[in-house]
Amino acid sequence: MIKVITYGTFDMLHYGHIRLLERAKALGDYLIVGVTSDDFDKTRGKINLQQSLSERVEAIRKTGFADKIVIEEYEGQKIDDIKRYNIDIFTVGSDWEGYFDYLKEYCKVIYLERTKGISSSGIRSEKALLKLGLVGSASFLEKIVKESSYVNGVKISGICTDYPESLSKSLKDLSIVTDNLDDFLCNVDAVYIHSFPKAHYLQVKKALLKGKHVLCESPLALNRKDCFELYKLAENNHVILMEAIKTAYSTAYQRLLLMLKAGKIGHVVSVDATCTSLKSITALSDFELDKKWNSLATWGPTGLLPVFQILGTSFKCKNIISHIDKNSEKFDTFTKIEFVFPNSVASVKVGRGVKSEGELVVSGTKGYIYVPSPWWKTDYFEIRYENPVDNKRYFYQLDGEGIRYELVSFLKSIQTNTTYLKIDQDISLAISEILQDFYDDKDVIFI
Ligand code: CTP
Repeated sequence: MIKVITYGTFDMLHYGHIRLLERAKALGDYLIVGVTSDDFDKTRGKINLQQSLSERVEAIRKTGFADKIVIEEYEGQKIDDIKRYNIDIFTVGSDWEGYFDYLKEYCKVIYLERTKGISSSGIRSEKALLKLGLVGSASFLEKIVKESSYVNGVKISGICTDYPESLSKSLKDLSIVTDNLDDFLCNVDAVYIHSFPKAHYLQVKKALLKGKHVLCESPLALNRKDCFELYKLAENNHVILMEAIKTAYSTAYQRLLLMLKAGKIGHVVSVDATCTSLKSITALSDFELDKKWNSLATWGPTGLLPVFQILGTSFKCKNIISHIDKNSEKFDTFTKIEFVFPNSVASVKVGRGVKSEGELVVSGTKGYIYVPSPWWKTDYFEIRYENPVDNKRYFYQLDGEGIRYELVSFLKSIQTNTTYLKIDQDISLAISEILQDFYDDKDVIFI
């Protein structure tokens, strides 16, 4: 009996896949089809599949070509499978020509001509192209342009900014560059806002009122009431409002939360997060300083994220201890927030003029989780116990700092009208309330 194996993602099974499977089956007597797992695809850069693994497997099963279906979960698995199932022929489409020649050591390798004119990515792109407009002038928006190129179905339409002269070349070259937000909103389906924190509320509101989906850099608003109003507005206008904190979309961070929920370190007694950067703020004029992101606006939402996601938002009391730059009102170069919860505590240290170890430590009654610096871009963490022999290390690929996964979640939420968002409304509200308290001097100690 000649055994054949082939692999693929097979998202939204199409004619090209069917032809490939038909010819693969005809090469022998028994066909095994390897379908990539979602995690494996993520590491290969295929990030916005439309179908889940079980849907893709079911579609292959229905073709009737596969005698067996296996799941491909790791790099190098093909060799293991070929040996395990005594495979005679490995086959894939000619788009992989030469790539799998190393398998010739184990079996015959045949590249079948790829069917022209059809691909899953093509179908995904055509499905509904989301015209995404950028709002703001930060160079960070260049990353959005770059990362959106990895997401089928998103096209950057242009940029709306009050500071066109400060745009980098790639942003200046976008097809629309304007300072008129109203007009701009007429030309897009959704916006990514990375402007100054004070500007967020009005810009988000304008976009929502025009029925546009919004992905806005956190904080959405500088007080709880405004933040709540924006969420209500989004709900009433049937559009997606999503807070952009890329860390929430990193696989490692998501797995860390699940492990905590599963009790891997027992009861959590403390969450301590530090996020700092040394930007040359002294070089900026007072006017600019006021407009620029201070420590709390820049890093606060990221630092607060694990605190609120792990311990909830019902803390008993807090202190915001801030060092304010002498030259500018309310520009904190460093802030430490201490929280007391009913059964635990937390601290968040943020700085834009102070440098510290950017780590996250979650302490529990059985052990602790350690995420090394920079924890907000993490692809790695450790669970440590009293006996180091029991320690466990976890690594999950993080591409594009999590931004591309964030864009995929935004797109999927829009397309399917189901939420793929990782930051709940109560967390957004709690974040904006902390900023509100800081600006209102509530529970604030200045040093
Ligand atoms: N295939 C093919 N002809 C096509 C598309 C795919 O023969 N028009 C083959 C591929 O060469 C591979 C298998 O089908 O052997 C599974 O391919 P997969 O990567 O899942 O499909 P694509 O449509 O190429 O997906 P994408 O656009 O996401 O790369």
